[in-house]
Amino acid sequence: MALTHPSLLKRLTPKGMFWRSLLILLIPLVLLQGVVAYIFFERHWDTVSRRLALGLTGDIIYVMRTMQKYPEDEFREWTLRAAHREMQINAVFEPGAKLPDVAPELSSSNTDRMLHHALSERLIIPFHIDSRRDDKNISIRIGLQEGVLDILTPRKRMFSTTIYIFVLWMVGTALVVTAIAIFFLRNQIQPIRRLAAAAEAFGKGRSDVEFKPAGASEIRQAAAAFIDMRGRIARHIDQRTEMLAGVSHDLRTPLTRIKLQLAMLRETMPEAGAEISDLESDIADMEKMIDEYLAFSRGQGAEAPEPVDLSALIGEVVDGARRNGAALTLDAGEALTLPLRPNAIKRCLTNLVDNAVRYGENIDVTARRTGESVEVIVEDDGPGIPPESIDDVFKPFYRLDDSRNPNYAGAGLGLAIARDVARGHGGDIVLETAGSGGLRAVLRLPV
Ligand SMILES: Nc1ncnc2c1ncn2[C@@H]1O[C@H](COP(=O)(O)OP(=O)(O)OP(=O)(O)O)[C@@H](O)[C@H]1O
Ligand SMILES: [Mg+2]
Repeated sequence: MALTHPSLLKRLTPKGMFWRSLLILLIPLVLLQGVVAYIFFERHWDTVSRRLALGLTGDIIYVMRTMQKYPEDEFREWTLRAAHREMQINAVFEPGAKLPDVAPELSSSNTDRMLHHALSERLIIPFHIDSRRDDKNISIRIGLQEGVLDILTPRKRMFSTTIYIFVLWMVGTALVVTAIAIFFLRNQIQPIRRLAAAAEAFGKGRSDVEFKPAGASEIRQAAAAFIDMRGRIARHIDQRTEMLAGVSHDLRTPLTRIKLQLAMLRETMPEAGAEISDLESDIADMEKMIDEYLAFSRGQGAEAPEPVDLSALIGEVVDGARRNGAALTLDAGEALTLPLRPNAIKRCLTNLVDNAVRYGENIDVTARRTGESVEVIVEDDGPGIPPESIDDVFKPFYRLDDSRNPNYAGAGLGLAIARDVARGHGGDIVLETAGSGGLRAVLRLPV
């Protein structure tokens, strides 16, 4: 059957916890009410209708028999009056009349059918039930030998109001239960939503979101665990950046001393000039690395996220690269404002653009919004990175074949830092091969 097909069942099941819980509650309720209603209609309602029909039939036959036993006019009048008074049976005798051969069609109403059934069990003479004659009354015409007995009796005699009361109670309680369930479920789901929102905000690098555990004990437990974890991660990041800053800073002093000593050595030992130049260039590289560490730790540590126009930031980075003589095109359409740590993101973008400029000739930078995130694409026409090395180039100090660009000795930190920044904002960097064979770096940030 189509309904048992898993994908259809999955599609029909609501995704949210609110609707799922509501269904878990309401489906048994509706089923239970359905079963109860079925039993009530089948058993109780049927029995009640039959009893009522039998009662009415008994009354009618009693009036008929009395009338036949005492056929004198005055007795008959008395019998009919008594029937009216005591049994709500309004009977008129039409002497000499005959029942038409064709009976009026019986309505589909259950009560009329029951009555017809009960009367046919007890009467051998012809009778007609006309449901359409009157809304409030049932009309029964009995063909006696002497004439026709025309009976009108209120429909109420055949009708039990319990059915309406029953349905009213059933629907009423179902509505009340649903309303209560919706009210309580909303309150139960709210803390889960808040926990999810706090976790999401933290993933995007906002650890300052105010959040208190609330709701059922399991949810409180999860919330408390989340808050603990958030604190631990924040402390861990702080510690790491502080250490990085400390080490970088402390390394500068001995490096400066070495530089000074090398300068003095050049004077005292002019014959070692070439070796000293090599040492000086190594020291320059080290200083560059240290600057990078410092800049990175500053960006990551102290900075708080604030709404920043990413397009403007990209513009600054691209302008900077152009000033150094690179050929870049920029396509950053509308303003893309989102919460960011501006210095860190600038560093991330600079690292991507620097790489592109270093390895390629023509660079295209594009920024655009795609659904729930923003994408910045830096594409160059250089040699690209072979797919098997893509995971490696993100590792700190990892550099591809130095012979590619012998004039430059980078630290191999650029991409590691760039990805760190992206992930710190809840995003990531993906490297792909561009159409030109160069590298396409995609920085994706959640909005
Ligand atoms: N646009 C690119 N085209 C080709 N290869 C690239 C490109 N960008 C990075 N790479 C390769 O990935 C390696 C790692 O890049 P990463 O930016 O991390 O370090 P780096 O540029 O060598 O040094 P740093 O950025 O720290 O000065 C580079 O050495 C280079 O081999
Ligand atoms: Mg680099």
